[in-house]
Amino acid sequence: MSNIESVLNEVRVFEPSAEFVKQANVSGMQAYQALCKAAEQDYPGYWANLARETLQWKKPFTKSLDESNAPFFKWFEDGELNVSYNCLDIHLAERAEKTAIIFESDDGKVSKVSYRELHGRVSQFANGLKSRGIGKGDRVVIYLPMSIEAVVAMQACARIGAIHSVVFGGFSAKSLHERITDAKACAVITADAQMRGGKQMPLKPIVDEALATGGCESVHSVIVYRRSGNNVEWNDGLDIWWHDLFNSQPTHCEPEWVGAEHPLFILYTSGSTGRPKGVQHSSAGYLLGAMLSMKWVFDYKDSDIFWCTADVGWVTGHSYVAYGPLAMGATQVVFESVPTYPDAGRFWKMVQDHKVTTFYTAPTAIRSLIKLGGELPKQYDLSSLRLLGTVGEPINPEAWMWYYNTVGQGRCPIVDTWWQTETGSHMIAPLPGAMPIKPGSCTLPLPGIMASIVNEAGDEVHDQHGGFLVIKRPFPSQIRTIWGDPERYRKSYFPEEMHGYYLAGDSAHRDDDGYFWIMGRIDDVLKVSGHRLGTMEIESALVANPLVAEAAVVGKPHEIKGEGIVAYVVLKGSRPSDPNKSREIAEDLRNWVSKTIGPIAKPDEIRFGDNLPKTRSGKIMRRLLRAIANGEEISQDVSTLENPAILDQLKNAI
Ligand code: PRX
Repeated sequence: MSNIESVLNEVRVFEPSAEFVKQANVSGMQAYQALCKAAEQDYPGYWANLARETLQWKKPFTKSLDESNAPFFKWFEDGELNVSYNCLDIHLAERAEKTAIIFESDDGKVSKVSYRELHGRVSQFANGLKSRGIGKGDRVVIYLPMSIEAVVAMQACARIGAIHSVVFGGFSAKSLHERITDAKACAVITADAQMRGGKQMPLKPIVDEALATGGCESVHSVIVYRRSGNNVEWNDGLDIWWHDLFNSQPTHCEPEWVGAEHPLFILYTSGSTGRPKGVQHSSAGYLLGAMLSMKWVFDYKDSDIFWCTADVGWVTGHSYVAYGPLAMGATQVVFESVPTYPDAGRFWKMVQDHKVTTFYTAPTAIRSLIKLGGELPKQYDLSSLRLLGTVGEPINPEAWMWYYNTVGQGRCPIVDTWWQTETGSHMIAPLPGAMPIKPGSCTLPLPGIMASIVNEAGDEVHDQHGGFLVIKRPFPSQIRTIWGDPERYRKSYFPEEMHGYYLAGDSAHRDDDGYFWIMGRIDDVLKVSGHRLGTMEIESALVANPLVAEAAVVGKPHEIKGEGIVAYVVLKGSRPSDPNKSREIAEDLRNWVSKTIGPIAKPDEIRFGDNLPKTRSGKIMRRLLRAIANGEEISQDVSTLENPAILDQLKNAI
């Protein structure tokens, strides 16, 4: 455990104002502790009560948690409901005319839809899907830009019991193909193009390329939303315009009532091996997690204007754009573009224009906005804000302080939310009216989340030492399995030595107040701009290039992105001696990775060597590669290395 000692010593503590505490949904530490105690005393009963109070059931459940086939847990299994009904229909009586979505496009055009309109659109599109023969249990890949339509598409799938799998619009044809074939999707919903930062980027041509790769015979429909109006290639038997499918449909669609455990969606994410994992979520447990965290962590009020800046291609955009806010009946902002267009004041202008009260973004965005316009927030009226949040990676205390003082004007608590694609909703995060916050700490687990820190043997560590972050008991919003690969699910998250605990894949430590501090991943997963990328995935992409014999990828701290990507590459031919030639090949390989996986995976640096540092048994010593990437002296024993001389070569390589 020597490699996960904490070096951070942050001592600042920020109490919520008396005013905030007074109005909070969970007000004061005692109220938080009372909830935790209730969970400890009767764990299944605690969750059953919350599930009954929070969700609308078509058929009530009789049993809360079934652990008989661990780790394939089941929650509220004999209950029936529909997620889209819980997000839309339930609001029609009291807030039909309330704005559900304020959409702002790349060029600043604003359009709004009420709950009544959204309900109508979702129903219409759901009927459209049904008219193509799509129904319960079918997989639908969604490859759309941030838009009202993306939310409509997800909700429409939920309405008819189809299982969506959203693929981030920045992923390549190969990544898309991998996801379509793994899920055996019957339909792909896309747009002709997406607009970001004044630029148009194609989407439909990428879908065409993915489908042309072969193995996608399961796809019988490609539904295309017209965003740019550009001409696109058309496959008559397969393609249909969104408006043609949608316009003729009635605005009523009876929801498909499904069992609580019916899969709501699959979302692919990176793991330690090359192949992305299809994280499968449930219906009831997932929605319960999204709603409770809206209430507890975002302290949600009916008067809030909520804005989560995440793309629906990531889990954050599922739980805190497509589902959580709608289930709560919130008015939320959905933004098509990037925070730096037309300038780095865009977020702050939008907060001002739409009177946003709750703003949730990623540390990488905060860092880049500090760099590009640290004083810009002062030019806007940010007085509507009452709560700020972060997600996706640790936030460094300097960025936290800027967010707190310059954006929040010292008035707004910051909820630093730790969770994962697999957990579905927040796990460790402040309840902002209950507990003081500390810059860089995600504070304490949500009531009922039994988070802890253990050593390699799965035994709890109680002092300040680092260890593996685990969750000791199953919880409703957790991953149910990996699509098509239950064994990988069991092995990845419930390894034998962990006594049945959920192993998150992060290291962490706790301070004297019991606050959690996340220290980083324990596996070969990088967090680049908050996005999860497996080193193996990038390595596989590199070795697929005809020039490359071998590759090893490591992370390196990066000022804006949090973590940057350094790739060590052994070419099939000899290592280029001319630096210009090296640079040229490096550039080609960087572009190759960008094209193979997507621009987010483009290495920042490529170094060529005649070989890689390996043990005699052939294992690549990544720790050494990490040290070299960081320009650190190598202090550890290298006597087990097959080829110690390679270290000097890699140190000096470009
Ligand atoms: O390493 C942790 C980091 O992001 C990982 C989960 O990534 P992903 O599944 O892509 O989900 C991101 C959005 C929930 C975690 O294992 N992470 C997430 N939130 C935080 C974090 N690290 C530190 N602090 C956080 N608040």
